[in-house]
Amino acid sequence: MSQTVNALEVKASPASNQTGYRSFELGSFAFSRDEYFAKVTWHVGGQKLSHVMSADAFLRAMMRDVAWGFFYGWVNFDPVIGTRNLYGKVELYAGAYHPAYKEKGLDLTETFDSREIMATFKAILDDWTNEGFDPFAAPDETDTTWVGKKNGNNRLAIERQRQACKRMPGLAGDAELRTDKNGYPVNRAFADVSQEEPEVHAEPGFEDEVHAFSLFAYLSRSDVTWNPSVSSVLERSLCCPTTEEYILPIKHGNDRVEWFIQLSDQIEWEIEDKQTGAPRAKVIMKAGDVAAMPADIRHQGYSKKRSMLLVWENATPGLPELYESGKLKPNPVEF
Ligand code: PHB
Ligand code: FE
Repeated sequence: MSQTVNALEVKASPASNQTGYRSFELGSFAFSRDEYFAKVTWHVGGQKLSHVMSADAFLRAMMRDVAWGFFYGWVNFDPVIGTRNLYGKVELYAGAYHPAYKEKGLDLTETFDSREIMATFKAILDDWTNEGFDPFAAPDETDTTWVGKKNGNNRLAIERQRQACKRMPGLAGDAELRTDKNGYPVNRAFADVSQEEPEVHAEPGFEDEVHAFSLFAYLSRSDVTWNPSVSSVLERSLCCPTTEEYILPIKHGNDRVEWFIQLSDQIEWEIEDKQTGAPRAKVIMKAGDVAAMPADIRHQGYSKKRSMLLVWENATPGLPELYESGKLKPNPVEF
């Protein structure tokens, strides 16, 4: 079932006497959490359905959906729950890309104005994230305070803003947003990454325009995981490097082709059919490997040791429609 809903305000219950957490409603979906689990409930055909996720997995996924403004295409929290970005509007679904729910007509998709769903998601994230738990951090680098009754908050972590450079990092006027200037330490997993910077010999008069920096040294200081940052923009081409440890908290359903360049260490990708979740491939990417992720898949990465990945995105307007209509093939290369 699919419908458009106007949910003008955040609908939240008072804090529960038992757990201290608030419950939320968005359209016909209801969200609640307890000491261990997040629960999503929906109604279809007079039936009430519910789906449970571990609260930490739910919060890690919700964190990405909020921070990325619903990202490109589909953000599956797991095989049942997720969002689809329609750029201005967002679909929230349960079971719509899960064959068992879909075949039995037990799935629900509702479409919201992006700002409305964002307001509710931010309120859930804020209320359900306890002090000490950072949904952006690797499990080894955050407390396990996500377990248990409501205990404070971690606004500092969940409201973390992307740092935007005005110029290339290192050039005068880069807004002092170079991570090393801001005192971010080299991550424990990247202690062996050289911090040497390239030598630049600019022609006289061009000292303020020619520059180079070590992306490896830069990334070695990243304090978050699975959070690509746009580090260079050339027309519609976005280079988005990121550092990865443990599991990508969402299964991303691509609405365009994206390229991965594994810069260090190793990531194992599970690739599934975008619509059904049926397994399609397992890709083990080692340092130096390059892969094109097709436009008709969903994927999730596993990184045993913190690794560096360059995600190369194509921000050309209208791409989702070109793939959806079949005008563009889902894979960029035919072998
Ligand atoms: C992706 O879904 O393509 C993706 C998202 C976040 C990452 C890496 C890859 O950190
Ligand atoms: Fe992706």
